[in-house]
Amino acid sequence: MSEINYQQLAENSQPFERIYRWRGDDPAKADAIRLGEEALKAGRVAAVLLAGGMATRLGNDFPKGLYPIGFNGESFFEIFAAKIHALQNKFGRFVPLYIMTSDATDDQTQAFFHEKDFFGLPEQDVIFFKQGVQGAVDIDTGKTLYSAPGVPAVSPDGHGGVLSALKKFRLLDDMKQCGIEMVCTFQVDNPLIPLADPELIGYCLYDEAEIATLTIRKNSPTEKVGNMVKNNGVVQVIEYSDLPLSCAQKTNPDGSLAIGLGNIAIHVFRLDFLARILANEDFSLPFHTVKKKVPYIDQNGVLIHPTQPNAFKKEKFIFDVFPFAKKIAIVEGDRRLCFSALKNAPNSPDENERSVRADMKASGLF
Ligand code: UTP
Repeated sequence: MSEINYQQLAENSQPFERIYRWRGDDPAKADAIRLGEEALKAGRVAAVLLAGGMATRLGNDFPKGLYPIGFNGESFFEIFAAKIHALQNKFGRFVPLYIMTSDATDDQTQAFFHEKDFFGLPEQDVIFFKQGVQGAVDIDTGKTLYSAPGVPAVSPDGHGGVLSALKKFRLLDDMKQCGIEMVCTFQVDNPLIPLADPELIGYCLYDEAEIATLTIRKNSPTEKVGNMVKNNGVVQVIEYSDLPLSCAQKTNPDGSLAIGLGNIAIHVFRLDFLARILANEDFSLPFHTVKKKVPYIDQNGVLIHPTQPNAFKKEKFIFDVFPFAKKIAIVEGDRRLCFSALKNAPNSPDENERSVRADMKASGLF
């Protein structure tokens, strides 16, 4: 696959014709909520939690979902389970929760759910599946890294690995058999997540779109979120690291950022859309090269846990599926109500435990 020309995509990006206002006064709001609620009541919605990441920036020796982010020490997983209970109370159905783990997170994640009795969720409605892996090379030498003599060091293949994992384990077929039509995906590190949110699901249905994506206004040209762009009707996300500064800084006549909507990885997919693209044997997402901390053995066979990124590896990103959709509903939310991510260790300047707790408090949701 040829390299994506991000400069060109960003330079030629056009404004979105329609942006739905989530939790705002959108003219389609009442219809969207009605449609979303109907889908939830009818059991047509599943949630997919992307929880396979290594969380190297956070640096704990347990998966991020176990992190006690809540004011009473609740883990992310417990917070998400509470949201599913709230949906069940309101709509009379448990939204099945598919959890993507990886070699790095699977054992501890599954053990935690068992230890906590699945937080009261029906065990059959919590389905674990593991994503694939990618090798890594040394940043300086370009040589393959090994985790043991003769064993290449591997780590998860990026959150976009969810598509091949869904296919490998035939999970879309399982979902379809259970009457699922809408698949809501979200990340493990955002406690504000509107999980299987009726209004967001509803905008996808109302718009007759194949995907609805919840975005936020970026708070600076270089905020570390994906950037929503549109070229010839095709919606795409450009990762912050790939967005040329000159494009990031471009403004509209009113002073707002020309590329101003940030991707926060909260999406709704039609199951039929995912099934259609995955049915194509040639379908694959492009790889991005990322710098990561990958444990490796040195020339003496000693296992080293690097404190700085030491490796290049290839990852797939879930948003690269956007250009395959015939139509995407772009939804804009107030970040205070839907986004705060735990990325970094407590002593780092941002996206840490302190900032996330402050955002949780300010949201009024906790
Ligand atoms: P991040 O981009 O924060 O990556 O993941 P990460 O690997 O967890 O953390 P760092 O970069 O090493 O510090 C965003 C979301 O995507 C999931 C994560 O679990 C998180 O929910 N993810 C990421 C996966 O499920 N698999 C992956 O391979 C990567």
